[in-house]
Amino acid sequence: MRGRTFSSGILASAAAVAVVQAQCPDYSTFSQQRHEPFSTGKYQLSYMRPEPACRTFNSSIVEDTITDMKSVIKDPDLYRLFENSFPNSLDTAVRWKGFAANNPMEELTFLITGDINAMWLRDSANQMQSYLTLLKADSSYDSIASLYRGVINLQARYINEAPHCNSFQPPVESGLAPTQNQQKPDVFTPDASNQTVFECKYELDSLAAFLEISTNYYEATNDIEFFKNFQWVSATNTVIATTEALLIGTYASNGSVNEIPYTWMRETTSATETLDNSGRGNPVQDGTGLVRSAFRPSDDSTIYQLFIPANMMFSRYLDSASKIMANIGNQRNLANHMHNFAGRIRDAVTQYGIVNDPKYGQVYAFEVDGYGSANRMDDANIPSLLSAPFIGYLNVSDPVYQNTRKYVLSKDNPYFMRGPVINAIGGPHAGFGQAWPMASIIRIFTTDDSHEIETTLKEIVSSTDGLGLIHESINTFNQSDWTRQWFSWANGLFGQCLLDLKERKLSTLQASYQ
Ligand SMILES: *[C@@H]1O[C@H](CO)[C@@H](O)[C@H](O)[C@H]1NC(C)=O
Ligand SMILES: *[C@@H]1O[C@H](CO)[C@@H](O)[C@H](O)[C@H]1NC(C)=O
Ligand SMILES: *[C@@H]1O[C@H](CO)[C@@H](O)[C@H](O)[C@H]1NC(C)=O
Ligand SMILES: *[C@@H]1O[C@H](CO)[C@@H](O)[C@H](O)[C@H]1NC(C)=O
Ligand SMILES: *[C@@H]1O[C@H](CO)[C@@H](O)[C@H](O)[C@H]1NC(C)=O
Repeated sequence: MRGRTFSSGILASAAAVAVVQAQCPDYSTFSQQRHEPFSTGKYQLSYMRPEPACRTFNSSIVEDTITDMKSVIKDPDLYRLFENSFPNSLDTAVRWKGFAANNPMEELTFLITGDINAMWLRDSANQMQSYLTLLKADSSYDSIASLYRGVINLQARYINEAPHCNSFQPPVESGLAPTQNQQKPDVFTPDASNQTVFECKYELDSLAAFLEISTNYYEATNDIEFFKNFQWVSATNTVIATTEALLIGTYASNGSVNEIPYTWMRETTSATETLDNSGRGNPVQDGTGLVRSAFRPSDDSTIYQLFIPANMMFSRYLDSASKIMANIGNQRNLANHMHNFAGRIRDAVTQYGIVNDPKYGQVYAFEVDGYGSANRMDDANIPSLLSAPFIGYLNVSDPVYQNTRKYVLSKDNPYFMRGPVINAIGGPHAGFGQAWPMASIIRIFTTDDSHEIETTLKEIVSSTDGLGLIHESINTFNQSDWTRQWFSWANGLFGQCLLDLKERKLSTLQASYQ
């Protein structure tokens, strides 16, 4: 089938993933073809799970959940979409699981994003989050808990090696060859060996993702020993040092131009693939208390580096991770430091991140420069403004959030994509006219309105081009024009969303979407 495939500016087709076993089809190809049996509703969706022998991780609790949901979800096409998407990360993306060479107790999980054979900090944290409700304390190697520990340990290693980078190569222990990045190499490679790093875009939300998955694992298991035993404390120290160094503005108070720890440029024809002002980005005010982010969670460059959604997410998970640190023993000062840093960022988001809109009232800006300029938009990728309650930064009922939500879901948001196929937030990464189902899913997570939930679900289930998977983006006038046939995180997020609706709005799973 036809979709264009691109992610992070990298042609996915050029990064074909090695198959699990020689006779197993490459899922990048498999996911572009329809497979029987088709679902029995009007959309006749493909069955998209690899055959059992080709799945990359087996979990009986996930299989039980898929079976249980069959009696909960009444619509056959909606159920098929759940059945395909929920297990997708386990079925296809656990590229390697093992132990650290220097510590046989240290589990490692190399969890790829999908159609590129590399592990993103953000994607892998969120891919695991789709199984969070099934996570419980378990020391066995074949458990969801072990997968979590392996992802956290490998992320800790990556952060200690290259804290400004977003995407990484297989660990040496796996014996897997590094993946060639098809882009021209960046001009500055601050801390990036291409044997370790796949791409080195500094994104604040990547570091927040490490604290997010750590919080998720800790709150579900109370396994404090795990956090004591490996590289978690040192990686958290690296996160703090890296982000504190990026509180810096463009100019010092005496007018001299500050040295900044991260600059980046690439030879490209796309403005979002490089930074202006010789790799420094646009000017930002010093002393705001907001942490800079050179790139967004779409892997596109920011226009103003004081990127509000990532500051929200970082503040929220820095605060929750401070509670892990407090329970570790003899880390009280560090725990307090994390808690206070998180609070200062929250204050700065309130002071600099809220602007007045003549139509919507007080709303959060997407990006600010601290001089008074704001980039007013929202992008589909998480963290976004729409996802602020989903990431736990504020409550859905927060009045500034409600104003913001109305704005970002309207045609006043320059990246809200409209059409007969699907209506959702998109972004520069996949371009004009391409709506992202991921943003539709977050829309469902952030409302109690059954009508809004059902309308949004119907658009998702009817726009997969018959393939029965969640794509990255869809042309709002032509569902056959989509991007990324194998986007593991978006699939898991959809499964997570239906599990949430089962607890919160059961009637929406009993409705028809024909
Ligand atoms: C998953 O189970 C199937 C049998 O149902 C087996 O063939 C396959 O090797 C297992 N996969 C893993 C990664 O253990
Ligand atoms: C790493 O960089 C070297 C030197 O530019 C290049 O020859 C090699 O192909 C790169 N390896 C990967 C995996 O990108
Ligand atoms: C200006 O201030 C910066 C930061 O405080 C300092 O590093 C630099 O030496 C000062 N430059 C001059 C010329 O005073
Ligand atoms: C959400 O509201 C509850 C109840 O009012 C409050 O306890 C909680 O702190 C709020 N959460 C956030 C993230 O503001
Ligand atoms: C829809 O998109 C597909 C894939 O890009 C393309 O082949 C087809 O011509 C498009 N249909 C229309 C009506 O534009």
